[in-house]
Amino acid sequence: MSTSVKLHVNVDHVATVRQARREAFPDPVAWALRAEAAGAEGITCHLRMDRRHIQDEDVRQLRARIGTRLNLELSLNPEIVAIAVESGAQAFCLVPESRAEVTTEGGLDARKESQRLAEVVPALIERGGEVSLFIDPEEDQVRASADSGAQFIELHTGRYALAQGIDREAELARLVRATELATSLGLQVNAGHGLDYSNVQPIALLPGVVELNIGYAIVAESLFCGVDEAVARMARLIQQAGS
Ligand code: PXP
Repeated sequence: MSTSVKLHVNVDHVATVRQARREAFPDPVAWALRAEAAGAEGITCHLRMDRRHIQDEDVRQLRARIGTRLNLELSLNPEIVAIAVESGAQAFCLVPESRAEVTTEGGLDARKESQRLAEVVPALIERGGEVSLFIDPEEDQVRASADSGAQFIELHTGRYALAQGIDREAELARLVRATELATSLGLQVNAGHGLDYSNVQPIALLPGVVELNIGYAIVAESLFCGVDEAVARMARLIQQAGS
């Protein structure tokens, strides 16, 4: 058995290393091209309000030069939404964002944000992009996402990734329930956050999951074995999940 789940590689932390010195290298675009050659079926980046890693020019260059699809993660901040609308990215993932966090900590509150989503989701879809909402695997969030008009959700796998033993089983069960509900409501399902070489396979087997977004683990592993091996190994694990 093999899965057809797509691996999208997040290149934010290649830019994190570059920004540590404000140098021109390592170039996340060049790294993304290598990731594609090694099996990435899409490239993801997050243009944060504080520009701590990805810069506006990175988004333009990724869009112009990669051969697969660009998935742009963004908050509901109007400046960033305006950039996204003009970016030409093929997919957008709306995420919550706080300046104090080290990484995206929880899912978007799709219910509380319903008014802003009612403006932003159609504006992005109008530009030809697929829109997903990055949410926690909770029933009310899945239902609110379906109401927003987004075609996709991306389930936050961070709690699953951190949990151990029976707690992890419980988190996996929550993800399965959320996936089934989303599918029954006509949503397509992606997943990501905190996924690595040891925990990815059960997520690749979620019923109906389309795409996994993975960044940190692959970039970190590439420091030891290179981008080609780091991406290819993750792609293989996803493809061979369940076999
Ligand atoms: N999906 C979303 C929406 C994210 O914000 C992130 C982190 O940037 C990821 C996936 C990837 O998470 P990680 O870097 O832990 O693989």
